[in-house]
Amino acid sequence: MKVAVISGVTGQDGSYLSELLLSKGYFVIGFSRRVSVDTSERIKHLLTNANFQFEEGDICDPLYIAELLTKYRVEEFYNLAAQSHVHTSFSQPVVTTQIDYIGPLNILNCIKSLSPQTRFYQASTSEMFGDEYDVYEGIEITVGTENINCPIKYQDEQTPFSPQSPYAIAKLAAHHACRLYRESYGLFTCCGILFNHESPRRGEKFVTRKITKWIGEFVRWVDGKENIITGDQDSIQSLDPIDTFPKLRLGNLDAHRDWGHAKDYVLAMWMMMQHDKPDDYVVATGESHTIREFLDEAFYAMNYEGDWEDLVVIDPKFYRPAEVDYLNGVYDKIETALDWKPEYAFEDLVAEMVEEDL
Ligand code: GDD
Repeated sequence: MKVAVISGVTGQDGSYLSELLLSKGYFVIGFSRRVSVDTSERIKHLLTNANFQFEEGDICDPLYIAELLTKYRVEEFYNLAAQSHVHTSFSQPVVTTQIDYIGPLNILNCIKSLSPQTRFYQASTSEMFGDEYDVYEGIEITVGTENINCPIKYQDEQTPFSPQSPYAIAKLAAHHACRLYRESYGLFTCCGILFNHESPRRGEKFVTRKITKWIGEFVRWVDGKENIITGDQDSIQSLDPIDTFPKLRLGNLDAHRDWGHAKDYVLAMWMMMQHDKPDDYVVATGESHTIREFLDEAFYAMNYEGDWEDLVVIDPKFYRPAEVDYLNGVYDKIETALDWKPEYAFEDLVAEMVEEDL
């Protein structure tokens, strides 16, 4: 039985990856750092599985990692533990650097010294591109009598990195450390440069889930006041007393993100680790949408017939000192090398998240 270790197992990706590996016959050791509240909600259904072992542990603790690698013959180590909230990294840059850079460096060094046959996956991120992108000619559209070429911006493995947050800087350092340990010590290290990936299990502070969770709460509030709904009972039309329900407070609605489904992306992680050659890959959908477009789609999925702008307040508190304006990943390399491509469409992802929160 293959043994795989997943750090950050209680997160969105950790839970989906655990399910995937268990379905493939692995023995999974998942760990997460100790906190005083119960964070095992996403993996609760796995805790009774005989092939799943949940532990408390910290990637920054060399003794814990060393013990793990000596006690078990670990074939694959997936490092999904992170301080993953970009906004938070501006107010907690040192803690973010410790977790997002020193943590993986610590694991790499333990693998090098104690278990060099262990394959290592590092969760790199499209945030490393920051404000950099490449441009290809794109499509030609006709406006009036004129044909205009619309250039399309994108990022792939050749796009230079230009990180715009302490989070992205720490992740980029870890990304380089993986390459260095691969080239210098012959370790099998893979980095998945994952673009944003969401699901009903997404943390509630990320913009997609913040929106769909608000929708769920709002609809329940409206349902409790059924008498104020007029017209078609399948849609929510009359929202006169909306002022009594807290509006959805958001920051920059104009940033573009390439949003995929986390389930597709954990499969990409596993596929990278099965290849005969370790490498780094962009994992994305090749489709970019603004936060406004996500809101359009989410309010459409809840059957809202009014204008969502009436329900949303722009709050500068959610602006970042530096923003990543445009992310749109080209996944040609992983499709060619590993035959991976995303299965979920953007509309289906949003609909699933709204439905779950409803
Ligand atoms: N979180 C949040 N909350 N973001 C908001 C809000 C808000 O109220 N309003 C607007 N936004 C904008 C942010 O400014 C950003 O442009 C965009 O929504 C997406 O923000 P997040 O959902 O927080 O994700 P992210 O793109 O910063 O980072 C996520 O994706 C990365 C991969 O590209 C995280 O999962 C990172 O850990 C991951 O590396």
